[in-house]
Amino acid sequence: MPGTVIVGAQWGDEGKGKVIDLLAERAEVVIRFQGGNNAGHTIVHQGETWKFHLIPSGILYPGCVCIIGNGVVVDPAVLCSEIDGLRARGVDVSNLKISANAHVIMPYHLMLDTEGEQRLGKNLIGTTRRALAPASADKAARLGIRMQDLLDERILKKKITAALEPKQLSLRPFEKDIDLQAITEQYLTYGHRLEQHIADGQQIVWGALDQDKHVLFEGAQGALLDIDHGTYPFVTSSNPIAGGATTGAGVGPRDIDEVWGVTKAYATRVGSGPFPSELHDDVGEEIRQKGGEFGTTTGRPRRTGWLDVVALRYAARLNSLSALAVTKLDVLSGFDQISVCTAYTSARDQDFKTTTFPYHQSVLHHAVGEYEQLPGWSEDISGVRSWDELPQAARDYLAYVEEAVGVPVVMAGVGPGREQIIRAP
Ligand code: GDP
Ligand code: IMO
Ligand code: MG
Repeated sequence: MPGTVIVGAQWGDEGKGKVIDLLAERAEVVIRFQGGNNAGHTIVHQGETWKFHLIPSGILYPGCVCIIGNGVVVDPAVLCSEIDGLRARGVDVSNLKISANAHVIMPYHLMLDTEGEQRLGKNLIGTTRRALAPASADKAARLGIRMQDLLDERILKKKITAALEPKQLSLRPFEKDIDLQAITEQYLTYGHRLEQHIADGQQIVWGALDQDKHVLFEGAQGALLDIDHGTYPFVTSSNPIAGGATTGAGVGPRDIDEVWGVTKAYATRVGSGPFPSELHDDVGEEIRQKGGEFGTTTGRPRRTGWLDVVALRYAARLNSLSALAVTKLDVLSGFDQISVCTAYTSARDQDFKTTTFPYHQSVLHHAVGEYEQLPGWSEDISGVRSWDELPQAARDYLAYVEEAVGVPVVMAGVGPGREQIIRAP
């Protein structure tokens, strides 16, 4: 299985970082294929916590080549400080590569993200304000700056001038902060610093795949934040689904052998948008506190809810998932009963009921979860290291999810640590 894609199967923060860190042990290459530093991927190893925003979650293995793929948008200031942070903790980053074709987040993109959210008022998306939308818009408009542009002053200045031109109106409030010469110089400095890492990402991936070496394609965000298939417009500005791995890394579908979806044992979402199984009560608060559900990137409290198998089945089909990794099972310990959302009814139409994910925004916005109850378990399972040691009710819960989603559950997380994950027999 040389090519394995790992994606979020919900609204992000499913624990992808942890699963990738585990699988990276046997990988030659880990390549992030979309998103930017809106992502926050956490790894906990030997009591130490690592949070990655741009750097792939395989970086802790010295032999693993970690690539920031062409599909990622890179804020070079954030990347430089992430590199510095790793170096300061003794991590060798010489194996970090950045695709020369990856797009760059510019200061004006950050201004426009904030301005855009302010303009939307109460209808705001709740973005991470990391400039994903404005930078991706420039990419699509062919006004983007790419990593390779940072190595050539003449090209860089010309491209920044062209990119600023159509934004004059929106950038008027920030006029005094935009100095073409200063931006050019600052970004040339980033280019100079990062030059040793800038590479032909796709060639490295092809080389590894052609030698049957294991390549992990690391997704950020999750299926329901996908710009085409998620809960638009409350989505991110890229394709976090497995298909995104092909464009964001430069491979074809036949290079992908397996697709792993990561899901929590319940559901969370940060930012605005529909969330049919959301809990607004004490149970939701209990899950938030027990699960430490506060954003890795922005620190915002995450919205919490029960596992939604309607949405998960949709994610399984969109990604053609071959396996499911279920994280945070330990957080459900202590609930007498666990609910699972198996269908949606409507707040507006009492005759409405569906078990498929609605394509229509008005239907989705009024969808209300309908639940099945499963028995809970009281045991603390954070010390469990094999499937057999799990309480029967926990195993039954995983078996239920597997059956309901139609994808084998291959792993279950029982805590944040690298060792706190157990493989299915
Ligand atoms: P990602 O963005 O998908 O990589 O996920 P995040 O790192 O943003 O959020 C997942 C959070 O859950 C992190 O704080 C992880 O350390 C933590 N985590 C991951 N797996 C488990 C698990 O099985 N149990 C518990 N209790 N925490 C976990
Ligand atoms: P990881 O990789 C959870 C959400 C934001 C907002 C929407 C759009 O850690 O799972 P953006 O800044 O992308 O324009 O915001 O997407 N969002 C995430 N939510 N995990 C993430 O990444 C996210 N990245 C973006 O909260 O609702
Ligand atoms: Mg995260």
